[in-house]
Amino acid sequence: MSKPRLFIAGNWKMNKTSSEAVAAIAELRKDLPNKPGLEIAVCPSFLALGAALEAVKGSVIQVGSQNVHFAESGAFTGEVSCGQLKDAGISLAIIGHSERRQFFGETDDTVNKRTHAALKAGIRPITCIGETLAERQGGQTEAVLERQLSLGLAGLTPEQMEKTVLAYEPVWAIGTGVTASPQQAQEAHAFIRAKLTQLFGAATAGKVLIQYGGSVKPDNVAELMSQKDIDGALVGGASLKAAEFATLLRNAACVLS
Ligand code: 13P
Repeated sequence: MSKPRLFIAGNWKMNKTSSEAVAAIAELRKDLPNKPGLEIAVCPSFLALGAALEAVKGSVIQVGSQNVHFAESGAFTGEVSCGQLKDAGISLAIIGHSERRQFFGETDDTVNKRTHAALKAGIRPITCIGETLAERQGGQTEAVLERQLSLGLAGLTPEQMEKTVLAYEPVWAIGTGVTASPQQAQEAHAFIRAKLTQLFGAATAGKVLIQYGGSVKPDNVAELMSQKDIDGALVGGASLKAAEFATLLRNAACVLS
């Protein structure tokens, strides 16, 4: 099916220096599909955000961070606040990525706090959820998504929910080359949409953008994006090379009506 809008974001994780980020953006800009309804973002490391913002000036590319802390300031070594991001010109942040949950102790509670803080500061969160392989194999996928959604989004108003982007990233598909099949992804996205309807009402649930992430590549993006409840992608590896990311964006754009 064709879509009115898609939001594709590249998560560069702990890759690229500032100069490499600038070079990648310059290359991407030369090759960008310009289709109404296609939102594009790159999320470099904190250190490269300033240089990336300069590099995207005059283009449609947005720049987001890969994390943000919930406190306004204080003794949180290694963290960055919403105020610091806003001051740097950033209004988009990935929150609760599975690598943060797996390696840095993020929980549904800290994801909830970070999402609230971002929204309060006028930063659009891309809040991530998704089950591990053991959870999927144990038949726990829906229970895990249900828990991550109820706890991670607790206390949000429907208006705040509409501004929040969700990324469904099955952990077993991240960086493994194993993509969820379009049917598996659609099934999970439909479950997420139904849960959002329960929590926030149908009107809000219908407006929330739900990205899919996990081994999205130029050759599988169109089929994934044409699924009913998939509204975009959070792309890791395939966003690192500008030419590959540009091809992926062009292929995704074909799905737009
Ligand atoms: P890959 O696209 O490399 O599987 O990574 C997905 C991801 O974690 C994006 O946030």
